[in-house]
Amino acid sequence: MIMNCAKPWYAGASLRHTLFVALATICFSLLAFQGARAADRFSLAGTVSSAGEGAMEGVVVIAQREGDTVLTAVTSDDSGRYAFPRDRLKAGDYSIRIRAVGYRLPEADAPRKVTVRIDKAAQLDLTLEPVTDKSRLAAQLTSLEWVQSFPGTPAQKDLLVRNMVNCAFCHSLERVVRSPHTAEGFLSVIQRMKIYETDHSSAERIQIVSTPDPLEGLMWYGRKAKDIADYLATLNLSGGKATWDYPLKTLPRPSGEGTEAVVTVYPIPRQPSVIHDLDVDAEGNVWYGNTGWDYIGKLDPDTGEFQEWEAPNFRPPAEPGTQRILGVMDIQVDPEGRVWAAVGGTKQTVFLPETEQWRIYDLPVIWKNPFLSPVREGEKAIWGTGLTRPPEGDEWPEYAFRRNIETGELSEGIDLFGGKPVPQDPNRANQRNYCYMMEQDKNGNFLCTTPEASAITRADADGNVRMIPTPTPHAYPRRGYRDDQNRFWFTEFWADRIGVIDLDTDEIKEYPLEPRYISPYYARPDAKGYIWVSSTGSDRLLRLDPRTGEVVKYLMPVYYDARKVVVDTSADHTTVWLPNKNRAQLIRVEIPD
Ligand code: HEC
Repeated sequence: MIMNCAKPWYAGASLRHTLFVALATICFSLLAFQGARAADRFSLAGTVSSAGEGAMEGVVVIAQREGDTVLTAVTSDDSGRYAFPRDRLKAGDYSIRIRAVGYRLPEADAPRKVTVRIDKAAQLDLTLEPVTDKSRLAAQLTSLEWVQSFPGTPAQKDLLVRNMVNCAFCHSLERVVRSPHTAEGFLSVIQRMKIYETDHSSAERIQIVSTPDPLEGLMWYGRKAKDIADYLATLNLSGGKATWDYPLKTLPRPSGEGTEAVVTVYPIPRQPSVIHDLDVDAEGNVWYGNTGWDYIGKLDPDTGEFQEWEAPNFRPPAEPGTQRILGVMDIQVDPEGRVWAAVGGTKQTVFLPETEQWRIYDLPVIWKNPFLSPVREGEKAIWGTGLTRPPEGDEWPEYAFRRNIETGELSEGIDLFGGKPVPQDPNRANQRNYCYMMEQDKNGNFLCTTPEASAITRADADGNVRMIPTPTPHAYPRRGYRDDQNRFWFTEFWADRIGVIDLDTDEIKEYPLEPRYISPYYARPDAKGYIWVSSTGSDRLLRLDPRTGEVVKYLMPVYYDARKVVVDTSADHTTVWLPNKNRAQLIRVEIPD
């Protein structure tokens, strides 16, 4: 019982729930000292309200200590209460900001200042006012809210959103719709955007990979750039418009369980950078690939300390007028704590933290897939794929190779797509069969998502390959992870669904997400059977419960460009890590159990 009184903040679902649990125990006498209990567990608490709504649920309250770059955020519950766990704020002077679309702190006291002490919980009540100015409201919208607001047919919106790389991959759509470009002007803008490498660039850190294509017949990832340009010119401030002539629609604020996350945002020290992927080791350290520069890095969340190590790069020298692309993409920590890193070029590399040395392996390809297959406890291999010769027509000669992580030994390549037709989407060009993200089944056999064919591709131990189509056509399966029941969970980027394939039977099931264009990118199961999903353009992390189909949405305190999602299995409460690609931040989302 005493243990129950002293349990940490994350052991109760919320302050209300904690008090309820306390009631049921001999701790109930402590209720008389509610304030003292709150002081034990929370360092800063208060309410959020507005004249229009009264108590406000789903307002993200963001605390930043003076002189510190880390942000900590919690969300107000249905009684308008918010509370920061004691061990998530150090003593000091804080600025308090909020995120709630359509609302702001009155100018006179934004941000609010508060002093957090060790001995006593600080109290700060926040009264918000509505944002009435359209340009100010526009600055609060997520890309998804812009897409929801845009006039136009689903086909026009598909043009914008349902691409392998869309206009919200390096910056928010706000930048696009605040511009004054005509359709012609947009065509030149798209021509320029096309020369930037997509995964290794953000709006702040640009890497140029190609010289501009001619404007005539310009394409954007299989779509006619002119169609996109024509549509965009109906959405922005072209023709001297002072504001947008369509209403700005906003998404609901978080509610219910969506208000229970404690979020910490750690900007990496090397700014600007691009952070596409990360992984967590057995001690809870977060390893990331710096996709903007040739580094890998590690954050120890207990101390907040960062370390970076230079990574090799085996890419050939750049062509004239372009840059040699720097950057490490996917990161995978193996069960021995070695850090596999997707570095530039065709070699496979692994960093050994103990000696701070790199081990380098050849891969017999001319181009290497920049993702890595996960390697779990008991697994002996990491898979890689690559092209063995230049693609021709519809042919994409991709082979999968299995590397033994102990001996480094490499298997024969498996020809993944030789002779397999690609189902063509009549609205898009240049479709090919290729592997996007790799995984292995419980027997160590290869599988990958195959977005253009909208299928999961599997190879058996004898190297026989089969493709299992998603029930929804053109769903664009993207990235995911296998659970402990031999099921692979994956996102369907263009179908706004989560897919799961039972690897014993090849049966695929789908779960819908809302709203249209929430564009899920990565699906990650946790030990409790929930699926954590990053969604492109919504600034939200999603949690699907496949038992009920229910989806909880957690709004992040910052603009968040969603990529990999990793669950920290060493933590004693649900802890999810996200890289914020364009802002070069690592985001931790903790949920009380
Ligand atoms: C690979 C990353 C990337 C992608 C994808 C991208 N952009 Fe950009 N965008 C940038 C960068 C970097 C800048 C700032 C430098 C510049 O303006 O060239 C920028 C700036 C802009 C600007 C402001 C500058 C101006 O000329 O008005 C607009 C508008 C814009 N982008 C539109 C788009 C559109 C439309 C798309 C999709 C077709 C798109 N972007 C996709 C990286 C990207």
